[in-house]
Amino acid sequence: MTEKIVVRIERSHPARWEEFHVERRPNANVISVLMQIQRNPVTADGRKTSPPAWDAACLEEVCGSCTMNVNGKVRQACSALIDHLEQPITLQPMKKFPLVRDLSVDRQKMFEALKRVHGWIPIDGTYDLGPGPRQAPEEQEIRYVLSTCMTCGCCLEVCPQVAPSTAFIGAAAISQVRLFNSHPTGAMNAAERLHGLMEAGGVNDCGRAANCVLACPKEIPLTSSIADMARATTKQALKEWFVRDEPKGSTGPA
Ligand code: SF4
Ligand code: SF4
Ligand code: FES
Repeated sequence: MTEKIVVRIERSHPARWEEFHVERRPNANVISVLMQIQRNPVTADGRKTSPPAWDAACLEEVCGSCTMNVNGKVRQACSALIDHLEQPITLQPMKKFPLVRDLSVDRQKMFEALKRVHGWIPIDGTYDLGPGPRQAPEEQEIRYVLSTCMTCGCCLEVCPQVAPSTAFIGAAAISQVRLFNSHPTGAMNAAERLHGLMEAGGVNDCGRAANCVLACPKEIPLTSSIADMARATTKQALKEWFVRDEPKGSTGPA
């Protein structure tokens, strides 16, 4: 007899739990199991239902779009191997983001946060800029880790400061300011990124609970980023206070 795996999914429209019994296949992960259910959406008690909705793209833990709560832990569904999960496997959408449908949520607020902190380096790519500035290998190493953020939302999902009633920007955007401000070219726009962190809901709203660093699948040193950016914003505020008689552009990198 084929071995079955038991999957419980928190559904929406209307809100309900549904249980599915799915044939166990070698090397299955949560996304491949969801695809099995999608092909034959019949619940464990034999009721035909609608196929569950979820997001996924890269299927190799790079895009962050498949992030959901698997057995109560926020993670990427594509790298959640069935053989490593206790049964019944429970699947729930992230709770700190607006629900779209079933397991799909809207992570737009993370992209808005990146806009707020100018999470990029403005360069003119219309001509050959030549080789980039030289950087010490140790700096490249840390910046590489920071650059692996995939805007997945795990750090916001576990953060006690993130709630519908709060404006907290979250650890991911704070860490991206560290990434771009520590780059020799990015440092030219450091002040405007720091201003994004100095507004309401900025870095000072972090309660230092450190849940984020434990939840980050890319092992980004988020608490160091938060500490670094808290110091940088304080320095920036002092600098602006002391040079308040100078034109705004002169407040430069912190
Ligand atoms: S340290 Fe705590 S409060 Fe700050 S971003 Fe991380 S989880 Fe949220
Ligand atoms: S910092 Fe880590 S947990 Fe947060 S969005 Fe980026 S990759 Fe995901
Ligand atoms: S599908 Fe891209 S991280 Fe899972």
